[in-house]
Amino acid sequence: MSKLTYGTTDSAEAMRLEHEYGAHNYHPLPVVLAKGRGIYLWDPEGNRYLDFLSAYGAVNQGHCHPKIVQACLDQAKILTLTSRAFFANNLGVWEKFITEFFGFEMVLPMNTGAEAVETAIKLARRWGYVKKNIPDNQAQIVTCAGNFHGRTTTIIGFSTDPDCKAGFGPFTPGFLSIPYNDPAALETLLKEKGKTIAGFLVEPLQGEAGVAVPDDGYMKKVSEICEKYNVLLIADEIQSGLARTGRMLCCEWDDVQPDVLILGKALTGGIIPMSAVLASKDIMLTIKPGEHGSTYGGNPLACEIAIAALRVLRDEKLAENADKMGEIFRTGLGKIESPLIELIRGRGLMNAMIIKPQGGIEAWDVCLALKDQGLLAKPTHRHIIRFTPPCIINEKQINESLGMIKAAFATLNEKIQQPVT
Ligand SMILES: Cc1ncc(COP(=O)(O)O)c(C=O)c1O
Repeated sequence: MSKLTYGTTDSAEAMRLEHEYGAHNYHPLPVVLAKGRGIYLWDPEGNRYLDFLSAYGAVNQGHCHPKIVQACLDQAKILTLTSRAFFANNLGVWEKFITEFFGFEMVLPMNTGAEAVETAIKLARRWGYVKKNIPDNQAQIVTCAGNFHGRTTTIIGFSTDPDCKAGFGPFTPGFLSIPYNDPAALETLLKEKGKTIAGFLVEPLQGEAGVAVPDDGYMKKVSEICEKYNVLLIADEIQSGLARTGRMLCCEWDDVQPDVLILGKALTGGIIPMSAVLASKDIMLTIKPGEHGSTYGGNPLACEIAIAALRVLRDEKLAENADKMGEIFRTGLGKIESPLIELIRGRGLMNAMIIKPQGGIEAWDVCLALKDQGLLAKPTHRHIIRFTPPCIINEKQINESLGMIKAAFATLNEKIQQPVT
């Protein structure tokens, strides 16, 4: 066994164990992580990396933020789980805090992002029957091509990505699909079928699709269309929210308040899972006691951690920082020369590089070259690399990352210029 700096398992053994005993439902980059702090990660042998994935946007506050860790440690010694069979003395405190923070009347806590999306779907359907008088079992939800909302059987049923859904059917009915970034398509559909449509579920900026940034004003337009046809606008901000795009919520770019807001990931700064659905009383109170819930949803530990995590986002002005650092990062990326780079796009610190595969090099190979330089990023699809560092990153670290990306492309450029023998 090699000399270890962190943990008891070296990289080779850790990879072997995962491969042997864990389901093969992921294809990780060959790097093993044993420690995290701020924007940095270390492998068991002590090699340091810059984290440019942030656990798919769950550690916007940076790894092991001391204030969030402290809240976790303090509460873990007192009370961690009660279930919702009883009241808990800090659940209401968190509910008041988060609803005021985002300007909603009520919140429903869950754990994972997918559960919160499921919750929003049930809520919209229920509202559709109770408030909009949609005939029984006819409520429909409009979704967008390229969406990613999680991995449950209902959610993958309305995915347009064959990798997510092939071989997992049959799927839940009641979903319609329109192209993303196409308000006219929404209006046409609502004009025709609006009477049975309860909600429009949309990511204000599509993450898994490869950081698909819609046109300016897209969310404003769809919000107006939803209002016109009495359809709930359901914004999935699980990835785009919580400072990531340079605003606390991505919807703020268009000055839009959705009817239903879905949050997850960075809500607890990467410590434990917590997700939330926010809405008005008129919508939320259509679900009655016993009709929906989760054993761990809104547990005392998550509530304390979530308050600390939101305070960090606000007090450290992470949305403003993401906005500023994102500008510098995109400008820097734009100066890197390589025939492999087709396009750079993004908002705040949610950015992507579109790769033009050639000479046997795809996005995966670029990520391997980045890893060799000490920067961790992951492809989404075969030709897109997402760059989403923690929102606490500073200018010096952005410049450090740009140096690494430039060096990686210098080696890749050499490779594709070599004649094939
Ligand atoms: C926009 C969006 N919605 C939902 C989810 C699902 O969240 P979770 O993996 O916590 O279930 C994700 C995860 O990447 C996401 O990006």
